Amino acid sequence: MNPTEAGPGRDARTSAVRTVVNRSEFTRSIESRRMLADFLRDDLGLRGTKVSCEMQVCGACSVLVDGQPVSACTFLAADIDGHQVDTVEGLAIDGKLHPLQSAFVEHFALQCGFCTPGFLMMARPCWRPIPTRPPPR
Ligand code: FES
Repeated sequence: MNPTEAGPGRDARTSAVRTVVNRSEFTRSIESRRMLADFLRDDLGLRGTKVSCEMQVCGACSVLVDGQPVSACTFLAADIDGHQVDTVEGLAIDGKLHPLQSAFVEHFALQCGFCTPGFLMMARPCWRPIPTRPPPR
């Protein structure tokens, strides 16, 4: 949907957005030109999503929309209406790190750490648990 189109719950400047972020539902009025990274960081307080290049080059701002990586620095926040968003804050569940996070820690998979959330979110769709085999007879 074009976020600049007027319609129910939206005008040329704002959009009524209903979304699920990290398994929690949110309904917000969002400025139509607001970027997803700004919405996540400033409106929802999810500061794990970092912004660096702001032109889809570095990947620091990567989050998942319906399970697919997007660059939140250039993705319109209004376009998450009706969609599910996952950020690095949603990887751990009940304080238990996601296996990808544990692997990053175990293998020191970071330099300064600034873009680590983006790496984690880009890798998340590729991650599958290793199937366990029954013991040999
Ligand atoms: S901040 Fe670099 S790709 Fe978004």
